[in-house]
Amino acid sequence: MSGRSFYIETYGCQMNVADSELMAGILSEAGHWPADDPADADIILVNTCAIRESPEDKVIQRMAQLAQRKHLRPDLVLGITGCVPKHVGAPMAARLPDVDLVVGPDSYRRLPELIANAVAGPQVDLRMDPDETYDGALPVRAGGVNAWITVMRGCDRFCTFCVVPYVRGREKCVPPGRVLDEAAAAVAQGCRSVTLLGQTVNSYRFGDVGFAELLRRVARIPGLARVRYTSPHPADFTGEVFDAMADEPPLCPHLHLPVQSGSDTVLRRMRRGYTKGEFLGLVETIRRRLPGVSLTTDVIVGSPGESEDDFQETLRLMEEIRFDSAFMFKYSPRPKTWAWKNQEDDVAEDEKGRRLREMIDLQERISGEIYRSRVGGVVEVLVEGPSRRDPSRLQGKTADFKTVVFTTSARTADAGDLVEVDILEATSHTLRGRLVLRGSLSLRP
Ligand code: 5AD
Ligand code: SF4
Repeated sequence: MSGRSFYIETYGCQMNVADSELMAGILSEAGHWPADDPADADIILVNTCAIRESPEDKVIQRMAQLAQRKHLRPDLVLGITGCVPKHVGAPMAARLPDVDLVVGPDSYRRLPELIANAVAGPQVDLRMDPDETYDGALPVRAGGVNAWITVMRGCDRFCTFCVVPYVRGREKCVPPGRVLDEAAAAVAQGCRSVTLLGQTVNSYRFGDVGFAELLRRVARIPGLARVRYTSPHPADFTGEVFDAMADEPPLCPHLHLPVQSGSDTVLRRMRRGYTKGEFLGLVETIRRRLPGVSLTTDVIVGSPGESEDDFQETLRLMEEIRFDSAFMFKYSPRPKTWAWKNQEDDVAEDEKGRRLREMIDLQERISGEIYRSRVGGVVEVLVEGPSRRDPSRLQGKTADFKTVVFTTSARTADAGDLVEVDILEATSHTLRGRLVLRGSLSLRP
């Protein structure tokens, strides 16, 4: 079949963003080309997230909406990819009768073939392939100064609430040579920052290359200003990782450390593999070894059996650690998980809502205090481009992962420049300031 235009809509985590870029690469290699707008596309793929019920419902509604287009364009090929079809399984095709492709995360190499076969009827491929790391497939990146690079797919941890091991399968690591090639290719395309991705990225190991060694090798790629990674698992750190972060300047002083709960009872029920005390010990080690490091986290409220005391303990932990920011979620029971099978979702919905609001209020106050403490200082910013809210300003990130929006005057800057910005004000999520007029800009190498 001859080439056709495609559009990929992405939901969920950065892993999905990276997978969509991989799919774009596989489709381009097969002679298809990207469309700027779904209205112009011959093929529309929706890459989905199953982590909680609400995003899952949202994408199913979106599929139904897109399916309407088939009345006008019967030759449109509509596909659902990623974690939702893998989670729902083959009945997905029955639930969405106008969908032509139902494709799980290990089957993206087969997309061109499945698209070609779709004329004959819906194509379903939900295989689990323990060897598929997409070695040799080249992603087509959306552009921008940062490249997402998947270094590990799947997860072996089986936290009781989490669907990831069921939809993405067991942990499998990408060979280090491939990671380095992808990072070097991203730099050649103009990226100045890479983020290494994995569900428990710090348990990376391929042959004799562990995560710390991988970080060092990536950090030494010429032209890379910044290297980050997400998400590490608190129980998988080795001291060598912090040594690498202390030694190699491109490794950014920011860690996303999902704590999930501050109650030992809940952590045990979640099978997180650490206690509150161990988590606090880890934070202390990190802060001693990497002074000034910023810490962010994920927290779940209202998980099965979470009492008011458990919840208050989590708030106390957040107060004690003072994360720079946090993603906070209401527990959502996910079919297939251990918690769904064995634990009652016994915290009422309005109580989950109250706990979430209380936690958000606390974190907003803490983030506001941390962000405001930067006012009056100068920060180094990697420029991403015009601010989304106000295109007359520029936007970028500090090395410790804070968004900065700033004005320019006689002198301006381009995406990919490292610049200094005077911070004049702050909210709980953003630093605002103006480009420093004196001093030097570090332009692209
Ligand atoms: N309910 C609510 N939040 C969840 N997460 C994962 N599974 C669930 C669930 N069933 C959250 C965790 C994880 C983040 C990516 O999503 O906090 O770290
Ligand atoms: Fe899910 Fe736990 Fe694996 Fe994270 S470590 S992806 S929360 S099972």
